[in-house]
Amino acid sequence: MKKTEKIKLSISKFLKIIPDRLKRIESASDGRPKPRSSYKPNALAEALHPRVQHLTVTETRDLSSDVRLFTLRPDASRGTDRLAPFSAGQYITVFVRVGDRVLSRPYSITSAPYEASEKYEIAVKRKNNGGVSDRIHETWRPGTSVDVSEPMGVFTYEPLRDAADVVAVAGGVGVTPFRSIVRSVLHGDCAARLTLIYGARDRESLLFFDEFSASAESGAIRFIPVTENGDGAVRGVIGADIISEYAPDTAYSLFICGPQAMYRALEKQLPALGLRRKYVRAEVFGQITDPWNEPDATVPDRDVYTLTVRRNGAEEQILCRADESLLSAMERAGIDAPSRCRSGECGFCHSRLVTGECFIPERCDRRREADAVYGYVHPCCAFPRSDLTLEINPV
Ligand code: FES
Repeated sequence: MKKTEKIKLSISKFLKIIPDRLKRIESASDGRPKPRSSYKPNALAEALHPRVQHLTVTETRDLSSDVRLFTLRPDASRGTDRLAPFSAGQYITVFVRVGDRVLSRPYSITSAPYEASEKYEIAVKRKNNGGVSDRIHETWRPGTSVDVSEPMGVFTYEPLRDAADVVAVAGGVGVTPFRSIVRSVLHGDCAARLTLIYGARDRESLLFFDEFSASAESGAIRFIPVTENGDGAVRGVIGADIISEYAPDTAYSLFICGPQAMYRALEKQLPALGLRRKYVRAEVFGQITDPWNEPDATVPDRDVYTLTVRRNGAEEQILCRADESLLSAMERAGIDAPSRCRSGECGFCHSRLVTGECFIPERCDRRREADAVYGYVHPCCAFPRSDLTLEINPV
């Protein structure tokens, strides 16, 4: 048994504690307290996690008939003199003013982390639905001022969690986070052995085709383009058969990023690949717009419900369609509601469901257990199934 150590207490030191403290308070400056940002930990936190970054569009380049690449650099004249660092695979949320509303959409950063000393690049697909992406295509030119969030997201390669071999499956514009990862591999910042299986309608729709081909020729990655007509690529649609044909023989992590239809189709085929669940990572690209197609969808008894939104003690009633997320309904009604990822992951929109019921698709229900128990929801992926009252945080 250990001998108990005696702690020596000095009575004279003890008696001096209060007088010493009073002396220090007496001698302290009575000027204004230093600004929070002058403390090193606060300055570091602000540099890593700025609430907003003020940037300027410096270049644009068409990658295909409907996808445009935007280069964004810090705008020192508006207070941002450097970009927040990020990990390959993360996204930024872009804030776009439409009339008197500010809407937000997340876009993967497609440039590499080592380039963040100068720029971010994002690729935006025009959707022809009058939404934020179309607005960006119509209004962003070199010189346009834009505001974005800090980089966020967990669709990143983590050597402690992921296998050394990674099969990245991309569909359409969902290849953007993988371009960042490929550039990191080329730069020596990411140690993953990467096989990129990239599917699109046709050869013209495969973004960054020449870049990926050159990376494959240098031996840095394996690149398997897949198109429906097989023009200069593997013919077909990406499924378990194509993945297992090109995947390594060893254990590998599967990263998936693409349209929701591709993800839903692949999800059914995943058991055939025999992968451990922890090795499957999916970035659902964008918010759920067709909740009917979710395997666990519940059928609403009405087309439209009344949503009462509480904020700062005030209440406002709006209408919310049964197939529309609570977040979309609030934005449509001109209510500035908090949001970032729009796919249930970040928790930024976290709000209290005071009354009512909603459908939350299982695959995007990333709430903490306590949140689910105490009635909190993520409005970006909650769909009404009765009249509701929702309490949101002010933006
Ligand atoms: S915006 Fe990220 S969880 Fe809703």
